[in-house]
Amino acid sequence: MKNEVIKNFETIFKTKPSAVFFAPGRVNLIGEHIDYNGGYVFPCALSLGTYAAASKRKDDKIRFYSQNFPKIGIIEVNLNDIKFQKEHDWTNYPKGVIDVFKKEGYKFDKGFDVLFGGDIPNGAGLSSSASIEVCTGVLLNDFYDLKVDNIRIAKLGQRAENEFIRMNCGIMDQFASAMGEKDRAILLNCNTLEYKLVPLDLGGASIVIVNTNKRRELAGSKYNERRAECETALNMLNKRLKLKDLCSMTPEEFEKNKGLITDKTAQKRAKHAVYENARTIKAVELLKRGDLAGFGKLMNESHVSLRDDYEVSCKELDTVFDLALAQKGTIGARMTGAGFGGCAVCIVKNDGIENFKKNIAPEYEKRTGLKAEFYTAQAGRGAGKI
Ligand code: GLA
Repeated sequence: MKNEVIKNFETIFKTKPSAVFFAPGRVNLIGEHIDYNGGYVFPCALSLGTYAAASKRKDDKIRFYSQNFPKIGIIEVNLNDIKFQKEHDWTNYPKGVIDVFKKEGYKFDKGFDVLFGGDIPNGAGLSSSASIEVCTGVLLNDFYDLKVDNIRIAKLGQRAENEFIRMNCGIMDQFASAMGEKDRAILLNCNTLEYKLVPLDLGGASIVIVNTNKRRELAGSKYNERRAECETALNMLNKRLKLKDLCSMTPEEFEKNKGLITDKTAQKRAKHAVYENARTIKAVELLKRGDLAGFGKLMNESHVSLRDDYEVSCKELDTVFDLALAQKGTIGARMTGAGFGGCAVCIVKNDGIENFKKNIAPEYEKRTGLKAEFYTAQAGRGAGKI
């Protein structure tokens, strides 16, 4: 992929790139929809990601091109006139990052040409957008010698998504993309941003990602709706209590106080957040002890909670979940990411992977009319110059 973006850069911009950058996508193993509730999440960076070949210009222009969207062609903007423009499509992601960096006072003397290329399946919920944001952040850091670390790049990427794209996401995706490490998953405390890299020792098993190929149409609006419902729950609890966020409660405290949440929907959302946080902490302990079966069981419980209490799953994800659990080699399965389509993440014994795919593919198509895709994932490095 690196050579490909270099070659394509030369064809499109008729000059050589001075550097190539990379930022990975991510898959979340457990801890879903709780990054914005102050909880723990457990994602890992993927070896799939976004590449950017770039070189600085002598004027104020920035020219963007993506080999994934050749029909859109080159989009050109001026460094001093960065604004959201719907017709500028995917370039709003890097533009948002540039805008946020400028608002933070970072100075860019000249513009640049950049060609992006990525191998993350698009819109599958594996954080292709976060990876473009983080990739832009590491590019800016290098080209303008800004001396920002990768955690700050993650935070500024999230801010671009919140303020420029107006998707109210949490910090998980950008953090995983910026801070991932090979063969490690990240246990991240989203309250403090303290994190631990945990070896992904899966013995004779692997992470298998199943793409439902169901487009995540409502993800944006429903996502913001879930955030609002969690806030309602927190406000109701805080008529009596003094909680910073939902995940600062243990399940026992929740059971004692849940009557304060008089809105039934908000109560279900809060229940998911509190229990999912407890599950995540426990799951990582089990993994460290080598209890993969225990880890898998908690993944399954996570899916059920996202399906029934948080209500962010969909028929296609539930179908993959049901089919995955019926396979002999499956240790655990759940939807991953925002939901409403996208991917499921499964842990499958290596000697069962072939049958897993062979059995699920036709049955999934029969039940949904869609074709599933399977990727055996490796936890990869975080973002940087390559
Ligand atoms: C999306 C968001 C993340 C996180 C997940 C759900 O991927 O970008 O911040 O909230 O959904 O866990």
